[in-house]
Amino acid sequence: MKKKTIKAGIAGAGFAAAFHCQAMKRVYCADVVLEGLYSTGATRLAAFAEKEGVRAYDSLDALLDRVDVLHICTPSHTHEAMAVAALKRDVFAIVEKPLTGFFGDGSETYRGDTYPKQRALAAAQASIDRIVAAEEKSKGRVLYAENWVYAPSIQKEREILEKTAAQILWMHGEESHSGSHSPSYGYWKYAGGGSMISKGCHPLTAALYLKQVEGRVRNRKPIRPATVSAHTHALTRSDAFKDEGLIRADYYDIEDFSTMHVVFEDGTVADIMASDIVLGGVHNWLEVNTTNHRTVCNINPNTAMQTFNPVEGNFKDIEVVEKIETKLGWASTSPDEDWFTGYPQEIEAFYGTVAHGLPIESNLSLAADCIRTIYSAYVSSDEEGKRVAIS
Ligand SMILES: NC(=O)c1ccc[n+]([C@@H]2O[C@H](COP(=O)([O-])OP(=O)(O)OC[C@H]3O[C@@H](n4cnc5c(N)ncnc54)[C@H](O)[C@@H]3O)[C@@H](O)[C@H]2O)c1
Repeated sequence: MKKKTIKAGIAGAGFAAAFHCQAMKRVYCADVVLEGLYSTGATRLAAFAEKEGVRAYDSLDALLDRVDVLHICTPSHTHEAMAVAALKRDVFAIVEKPLTGFFGDGSETYRGDTYPKQRALAAAQASIDRIVAAEEKSKGRVLYAENWVYAPSIQKEREILEKTAAQILWMHGEESHSGSHSPSYGYWKYAGGGSMISKGCHPLTAALYLKQVEGRVRNRKPIRPATVSAHTHALTRSDAFKDEGLIRADYYDIEDFSTMHVVFEDGTVADIMASDIVLGGVHNWLEVNTTNHRTVCNINPNTAMQTFNPVEGNFKDIEVVEKIETKLGWASTSPDEDWFTGYPQEIEAFYGTVAHGLPIESNLSLAADCIRTIYSAYVSSDEEGKRVAIS
């Protein structure tokens, strides 16, 4: 049978755009044709477009006129406007994490760390509402690019939950590393916060997703987060910080350490940590403790492959694992980092929705719960860890 042809565009020409582009080439369920790219940063855009042999557009509208799907791989403060523009044209919007947020009051003096978080929460909720309203009127859908939902270990746990009808009592998980590569990261006005939103969104969304799965299996109704208490810290901006040049330390107004305690509607709990102060490569894991089994999802690192390298230079052209500081000695080298992280599975699933109408596992309501939980957590951290209801 001839596969359906789907025309796609990418907004952005950086890190996320690159892995989306690679994952698109691995889609089996449809013929995905990359129509073109749109991004600020003309030099990088031109180089990317030339490498892929596609057109570099100088307007998002012009690209949207030519595509069925837009991959939104730009900084978080741009996500809402781009998603709404796509949906207005009935174009599917694959939106990178986090869905949206609060990106400042527009003033020159804005600092996210001192701004009242109740107002940030209200603004983030208003942004969610605008995206939901746009999706309701559109033939397109938001496909929320939370790769953890599609990571093989999380999907295996979904299968176990579905087949054992377990109740999850406690999850704990983390995403941490030694600092983002992105120049816009570090400013609340571009990223919508610090480690809690940029990294914590991954294990948090996986935890929210698994409680949704449990609810669907046991009561045909997702189990949603009810309250959150949280603490955040700016460790690399503290006077006592001893900078040894290994941890990125140039953040302007964001936290680099966070911890959230989420209580679900059924009284069960999840503890989520996220930070920019951890050496040794990306540390991505989620442990699930249930009434009939216990699972540890080691997304990164894991022991699928281990290498020993006695001479640093020998591995200079070899990707060992994301954000590792040295390639010397023993390493948990990933044989296919994208696969363990869920990128190709996520993009395959999204094109399954676009081409064949398959249901969306990582949908707008999951993304919205993630944003509501995180901004409620910022309110809590402003109030010394007080328990805050998630609306
Ligand atoms: N799922 C993941 O594992 C993962 C990993 C990294 C980044 N991300 C997400 O992807 C998004 C992009 O992050 P990145 O790491 O690729 O950043 P990046 O800085 O590497 O690239 C961002 C790109 O967007 C372009 N851009 C910036 N503002 C723009 C605008 N207003 N209009 C058009 N183009 C614009 C920049 O020129 C650049 O090409 C962020 O939302 C981030 O949270 C997700």
